[in-house]
Amino acid sequence: MKRLETFAIVIVDRNRKITDVNDFMYQPFSDHRYNHFLNESVEVDHEEDELCLVNISGERYLVKRKDTNGQELFYILAVMSRVAKLTSNTNHKKHSSDELNHIIGTSRAMNRIKDLATKVATSDSTVLLTGESGTGKELFARGIHNNSARNKHPFVAVNCVAIPDELFESEMFGYEAGAFSGARRDGKPGKVELAQNGTLFLDEISELSYASQGKLLRVLQEREVDRLGGVRSKTVNIRVVAATNKNLKQLVTEGKFREDLYYRLYVFDLNVPPLRERERDVLILIEHYIHEFNQSLGKQVTEVSEDLKAWALSYTWPGNVRELKSSIERGMNIVEGSHLAQEDLGRYDNVHLDHTAQKEPFHGTLEQAMNHYEKAIIEKAILEVEGDRTKAAALLDIHLSSLYRKLSKHQI
Ligand SMILES: Nc1ncnc2c1ncn2[C@@H]1O[C@H](COP(=O)(O)OP(=O)(O)OP(=O)(O)O)[C@@H](O)[C@H]1O
Ligand SMILES: [Mg+2]
Repeated sequence: MKRLETFAIVIVDRNRKITDVNDFMYQPFSDHRYNHFLNESVEVDHEEDELCLVNISGERYLVKRKDTNGQELFYILAVMSRVAKLTSNTNHKKHSSDELNHIIGTSRAMNRIKDLATKVATSDSTVLLTGESGTGKELFARGIHNNSARNKHPFVAVNCVAIPDELFESEMFGYEAGAFSGARRDGKPGKVELAQNGTLFLDEISELSYASQGKLLRVLQEREVDRLGGVRSKTVNIRVVAATNKNLKQLVTEGKFREDLYYRLYVFDLNVPPLRERERDVLILIEHYIHEFNQSLGKQVTEVSEDLKAWALSYTWPGNVRELKSSIERGMNIVEGSHLAQEDLGRYDNVHLDHTAQKEPFHGTLEQAMNHYEKAIIEKAILEVEGDRTKAAALLDIHLSSLYRKLSKHQI
């Protein structure tokens, strides 16, 4: 647990009376008022998941709550007097599309994570955004920055895939004049320095080499950078937001990602769910992108055909919102008139199959239902292997002869 102690932590008993606090809790006070908090009550006045607002000794805090055998731990993420100030200075820039409340989606999952992101935005905690490709992780990273007190300072995005190992230090930490041959004459600040007082967004963090991970960790721990060839280190004040579509925990187990760095990043994790789990958002996003492309392409689409809606709702969207956006863009380029149909998108993949197999309630006897689904499953397998029956039998794990029997039974 030691590595988490960069926070003020308050521990309470079952009656929410404080039994212990760590030293960080005393930091705001010049005098070291030891035992000041002991036996005080913690009043939780807005409880939701693990984040809540609490009152302690007349101060209001945003905390992350953890239950451990009979005790509760509160990790202090922010003092709310600061938060109040924040809300007022973000108000006047509400129109930016990078605000969290401009992220589209009204599904429960989406509302929940927008809510969490809004709360955590007000603190300086490191945030780890996880989720499949195209779910909107970068959008959230920018939203968190723009909703934070750092929004007048830079948001510096670094795509970790794009940084070869041998350039990691010069890219991230910068260099002084004449640090190496080929160095710019007047030196160059690194990304960390450029993010001073703002947010450093480390995208695809899993792609850093083990060695680079170590160098990054040192900066995160010491909050200092040394330019290559420099003589003095510079203190940096940055908020780190990282993103990955990999399972970092798994990579740690496999020895590919440093455990110490993992715990540095894993202070507050936000998982953006895939689009297929947010059915409600699909149609809203379609409308949003139709509106957007109506404007940019000068079209007048006002309606979405039923077949397009049905397809979009049953499709699995492996590329998530990014794929939806490009599908609509393709359709909007082709469409004439006011009606966008599935054929405009040029997509027929897994249309009615998923639809019959998963969405329609089936009325009939058990045997009829089983036949119905068996047929749909076999058709899907045949499509998936492009008609190769031997492969289809292998995919379904049945004998080829059995597959042939079923094909003729169902007249496929
Ligand atoms: N909820 C949303 N509302 C509006 N646009 C969205 C939403 N989610 C994603 N997008 C859009 O989808 C595209 C992909 O989003 P983004 O780049 O944030 O994904 P990502 O999770 O970072 O993907 P990757 O892991 O591939 O980098 C962007 O054009 C973004 O604006
Ligand atoms: Mg991204």
